[in-house]
Amino acid sequence: MLGLADKIGDAAGSIRETWKGEPRVGLILGTGLGGLASQIEQEAIIDYGDIPHFPTSTVESHAGQLVCGNLAGVPIVAMEGRFHYYEGYSMQQVTFPVRVMKALGIEILVVTNAAGGMNPQYELGDLMIIEDQINLIGDNPLIGVNDDKLGTRFPDMCEPYDRGLIGLTRTTALNLGLKTQQGVFVAVAGPNLETRAEYRMLRLIGADCVGMSTVPECIVAKHAGLRTLGISIVTDMCLPDSLEPVDLPKILEVAAIGGKRLSQLIPEVLKKLK
Ligand code: HPA
Repeated sequence: MLGLADKIGDAAGSIRETWKGEPRVGLILGTGLGGLASQIEQEAIIDYGDIPHFPTSTVESHAGQLVCGNLAGVPIVAMEGRFHYYEGYSMQQVTFPVRVMKALGIEILVVTNAAGGMNPQYELGDLMIIEDQINLIGDNPLIGVNDDKLGTRFPDMCEPYDRGLIGLTRTTALNLGLKTQQGVFVAVAGPNLETRAEYRMLRLIGADCVGMSTVPECIVAKHAGLRTLGISIVTDMCLPDSLEPVDLPKILEVAAIGGKRLSQLIPEVLKKLK
């Protein structure tokens, strides 16, 4: 049976047959944030279904694709569509693409998501630069035999998100006149949204935003020695004492507004990468 490293090698090898670029940055686009992919000077688009060992899509999930090319002059590979734990994928499957992007040569992972805002000072459409995270999914992508070639058994998590990238993103946003927040992201398994009591608890344990992704990818990125930048878009406010039923079309509408801001911000950040 093929081990994880072999599967990663197969997948990366197959992508290289189609695209010869040497990506420096990997970008994961969250729900409703596909707009950025269209800004990439595209050199290749590869369906996930054509990449060996990529998770096959479940009924609910849209088939995703890898967009390869240049953004703001930086060679980049972008995931349009990601895998969520709530779809029934294992944590290893959810994070497999991060391993493959690392094998392709990326040094930096940029992860985005649509999230619920629990910090009462936040507003719909705000961008929150993720400073730290809490894993409440109840599972971990690193469980199992550790392959030391991929990373260490007990990766340190004192700085899951790169401080240099956080600072760069904050100043870049300031120069563009874009408001950003900075805070803690908590991941839950989903797929149901949280109860009032759960939002109260999540706020109490120190989280500013909640979502159902990103934390697994960040853990694997850290294991793989990548620098990670995470940005949440606050698509709905989750204040326990004034909670209203979730309105999915509204969430997508707000995600699109945040997506426009991201489309301004990320290329400018990429231009300034050292
Ligand atoms: N919880 C609440 N609101 C959200 C979430 C979530 O996981 N994701 C996007 N909005």
